[in-house]
Amino acid sequence: MRTHYCTDVTEKNIGETVTVAGWVNSRRDHGGIIFIDLRDKGGIVQLVADPQDNKEALEVAEKVRDEFVLIATGKVRQRGEGLENPNLITGKIEIILDELIIENRSKPMPFDLGDEKVNEEIRLKNRFLELRTKRSYDIFKLRSTANIAARNSLNEMGFLDVETPILTKSTPEGARDYLVPSRVHPGEFYALPQSPQLFKQLLMVSGFDKYFQIAKCFRDEDLRADRQPEFTQIDVEMSFCDQEDVIKVAEKLIHDIFTACGKEVPATFKRMTYNEAMELYGSDKPDLRFGMPMVDVIDIFGRSTNEIFADIAKDKAHNRIKAIKVPNGDNIFSKRQMKGFEDYVRKFGAKGLGYFQMKEDGLKGPLTKFFSEADLEEIVKVTELQEGDVVFFGAGHKKVVWDYMGRFRLYLAEQMEIVPKDVYEFLWVVDFPMFEVEEGKIKALHHPFTMPKNLNKENIEEIESIAYDLVLNGTELGGGSIRIHKENIQSEVFSLMGISEEEAKEKFGFLLDALQFGAPPHGGFAMGFDRMIMLLAGTDSIRDVIAFPKTQRAQCLMTQAPSEVDGEQLKELSLRIRKAVTE
Ligand code: AMO
Repeated sequence: MRTHYCTDVTEKNIGETVTVAGWVNSRRDHGGIIFIDLRDKGGIVQLVADPQDNKEALEVAEKVRDEFVLIATGKVRQRGEGLENPNLITGKIEIILDELIIENRSKPMPFDLGDEKVNEEIRLKNRFLELRTKRSYDIFKLRSTANIAARNSLNEMGFLDVETPILTKSTPEGARDYLVPSRVHPGEFYALPQSPQLFKQLLMVSGFDKYFQIAKCFRDEDLRADRQPEFTQIDVEMSFCDQEDVIKVAEKLIHDIFTACGKEVPATFKRMTYNEAMELYGSDKPDLRFGMPMVDVIDIFGRSTNEIFADIAKDKAHNRIKAIKVPNGDNIFSKRQMKGFEDYVRKFGAKGLGYFQMKEDGLKGPLTKFFSEADLEEIVKVTELQEGDVVFFGAGHKKVVWDYMGRFRLYLAEQMEIVPKDVYEFLWVVDFPMFEVEEGKIKALHHPFTMPKNLNKENIEEIESIAYDLVLNGTELGGGSIRIHKENIQSEVFSLMGISEEEAKEKFGFLLDALQFGAPPHGGFAMGFDRMIMLLAGTDSIRDVIAFPKTQRAQCLMTQAPSEVDGEQLKELSLRIRKAVTE
């Protein structure tokens, strides 16, 4: 139908007759001459309907409204002097209409397409319209570029793209499953995969050596700005490898993807152990775009005359007293803001938030009376304070202090607007603990197929695993591990987690079986593809980078899913809805 996309018509076409097609972005009537901005996927070109050139085209142009679909033919000419638009690729030319066809009409838009402040519910209900915006198109172009770059990169490195089942059995990523009832087996259910974890391990047992998949994963968990119930991973697994081999592949993959998307990233990324990350930043996904690490001051506070601090300092195995210095904080923050900080950390379990101000004549603040001169000087020294700085303290159980001081660090940086944009700070966090104990229950921190370094530790929380996470700007971009490939180690891990032999057999019997048939050493990782695009596109909502996303309440407002199904369908599936029964 068309000879050119709108934005392909430029000065080089002056004098030529072209046909363009698209939607009416805007229409302006200048006393008998009508100007139409016609838009397609690439952008806008200006059409002109002038009665001196073509009366019929003008008659049609009079009927045109926003978002009508047009096919327009005309001659390209230079715009008059002073009428050029430097913001458009096509800003130097216009098309004088010979023929204008209204291919389709449009109802008035339910919202102004360019207005990003429109209520999200309206936008999501009409997502196909929101996707008409250039912003959306550019995001999906980027996503497509990244997807193809990932495939090319992995293909070049010898990885095989294998699809794994969507209708499957529960997988072990720790979220709730989405279940699909079976018609043929009444009362039985498939689970949608939380990740292809077990299948990719089985493919290693099959000898495929290097697998990848751009895989859909499904997790029924609380949703956040960077979490969707249905999301995509770049999923990778390889055999006869150690952690270094896997990290090398991941770094090359990221480098290739980011380069294809026009972003510069280093060839290798920094590393930090899980312990360092927690002690310095209170998080296993530290944002390294700015400083302000936490400093340990438990020994100094242990010597204070304040009983609460001295008491906390007695148990160094479980407790922490941490300081965060805010350069020039004394001048930046008002008294009221400082009070607000305390309210902020209390939300995350802090009992209070102490602080000192560094004045010309030394440390000031309500807590100074508990410390000797020498210890006050020591605080200044270890936190490297200069006049005008403020230093905040958190004291208590290490997990609580890490958590609220880590969050506080991010909060402060946000308030101070010191987080640089357009910077990519990658970090590998390595040496994760194998297990965590929550409410007396032992859980695998990554998943139970992760290879432990040494299972013979008295304290189960000290057992480390060969697991690594890739963090980008404080977001967990991906994670992976070397897997257990020996059945006896796998059984021992299950037993430590209190999973009985029968339960393990029932849930993961197929994997345990496979481990008995010559499973090679293997490992891999998965990158959150949606999160990667979010970071590449510089948006803060994962919904922007998914064509048809779900709301925070896991609904698709456009299709109205989930929705009720008719009784006949339920009957076929041998299901009865309790609500309907009780009503
Ligand atoms: P993990 O559970 O860490 O590991 O997931 C890998 C990456 O997937 C992304 N991700 C999500 N993105 C959007 N919405 C969600 N609900 C969501 N959940 C996770 C994150 C995360 O880092 N099988 C292992 C990988 C492996 O060991 O090889 C796994 O799935 O960016």
